[in-house]
Amino acid sequence: MKKRIPLPTYSTLWKSSQALLRKKSILAALSSFHSSMGNAFRLPLPGFPAIMLVGPSANRFLLTEEREQFLWRSEGDPVTDLLHHGILVEDGAAHDTLRQQMTPQLRHTKVESYIADMTACTNKVLQQWQDNSVVNMSVEMRKITLLIVMQSLFGEDFYPHMEELWPVILHLLKFISPGPWLISKYVPRSKAIRDIRQIDTYLYQIIAEQRAAPRTADNLMQSLLAYSKDDHLIRDQILTLLIAGHDTSTALLAWTLYQLANHPDVQRQAQQEVDAVIGKEMPTSAHISQLTYVDSVIKETLRMYPPIHLGSRVAASQISFEGFTIPKGSRVLYSQYLTHRQQEYWPDPDEFKPERFQAQPAHHSAYTYIPFGAGPRNCIGAVFAQVEAKIVLANILQRFHLRYTGAPIRPHMGATLEPSSGAPIHISSRTLLA
Ligand code: HEM
Repeated sequence: MKKRIPLPTYSTLWKSSQALLRKKSILAALSSFHSSMGNAFRLPLPGFPAIMLVGPSANRFLLTEEREQFLWRSEGDPVTDLLHHGILVEDGAAHDTLRQQMTPQLRHTKVESYIADMTACTNKVLQQWQDNSVVNMSVEMRKITLLIVMQSLFGEDFYPHMEELWPVILHLLKFISPGPWLISKYVPRSKAIRDIRQIDTYLYQIIAEQRAAPRTADNLMQSLLAYSKDDHLIRDQILTLLIAGHDTSTALLAWTLYQLANHPDVQRQAQQEVDAVIGKEMPTSAHISQLTYVDSVIKETLRMYPPIHLGSRVAASQISFEGFTIPKGSRVLYSQYLTHRQQEYWPDPDEFKPERFQAQPAHHSAYTYIPFGAGPRNCIGAVFAQVEAKIVLANILQRFHLRYTGAPIRPHMGATLEPSSGAPIHISSRTLLA
């Protein structure tokens, strides 16, 4: 017999609102729903009826086995309004063709060729850091990741545009973050329209310049220009990668630096590894694979604070999951955050333990650990993001000690799951300490 996916009862709602008030986080309310109702439940949001599916079998069902039954695109959502026909919001053949076009420029061997640029972009920002000062890591990491994504993939120096486009990018991220649009489609969008026009001016300008210039580079911009004469389609892909490729990495790096600052033993071990593997040299691809402890620190941070903590789909037809009926048109969510905190797969889930990734226990399946999603729509930039994170962290750890300032930090649901208050961290130069 088919079952209806449960809605929270009054007592479940009461418990989750207590959790929300206590921890000041919607994630705490979601965790409370999950522990009361199990791996399939309905969210009682007025105007945004959604089904939440949690855990490895749900992730496999949604992301791989029944992937064709679930659509990404949702007309009227801000992310669709912003990215138009970007790979992230396309479905079916349009998605798969774009994916085929872009994949070669994001494979491991290609990403390794971006390492020198990644270090150069990192250093442009690090050289402005003052010894013995407090740095807002979210701000600084955003500068670095914007420079890296634009230089590596599109051959563009973003530095001269940073000041002008910084507020535009922040407004656009706010526009696509969870907000009043979840409840009503009738929220004013005139500010977003102005911001979109401003970023479009920049994007169409670089497209025109690169179309006119002789082709010298082998990068994603050149692949896209060769693939299509439609500048609007190219604009959609560049903006998709600019947004998806920097805001996530900003969150990952800010959280990782916070964890390192807050766990001096972990920082010491990571620094010892960087010293032993790279010393004072510039990090190269040969070094990257040897930074195994730094890799575990990054992986554990992605487990605890997955920058994309939630994924959303729309059911294209009625379908059932483990005896539950999912009606056609339902909004179905999967949760990295809740999956990564399941006690049965992750003992002591709320504790930061990088060593759990060194032991490689058998229970870490592809669907219990999904910071980059899974299946044919998993993150196309997963390799890029992990190499970038190691390069940026190695450069920072070579030069600085980090100390947690004690400022209270909670996960904030913006366009990504980011540290509230921007992760302020005290830095001191290692060379001065030596
Ligand atoms: C720590 C960094 C990152 C995280 C945690 C992350 C996470 C994710 C996740 C979870 C998805 C799948 C979303 C879904 O199922 O709906 C995704 C898709 C995507 N990501 Fe990332 N991402 C990161 C970095 C990047 C970078 C650096 C790029 C580009 C250079 C990128 C580009 C994309 C694109 C284009 C998609 C859509 C893929 C498709 O639909 O085929 N991401 N990412």
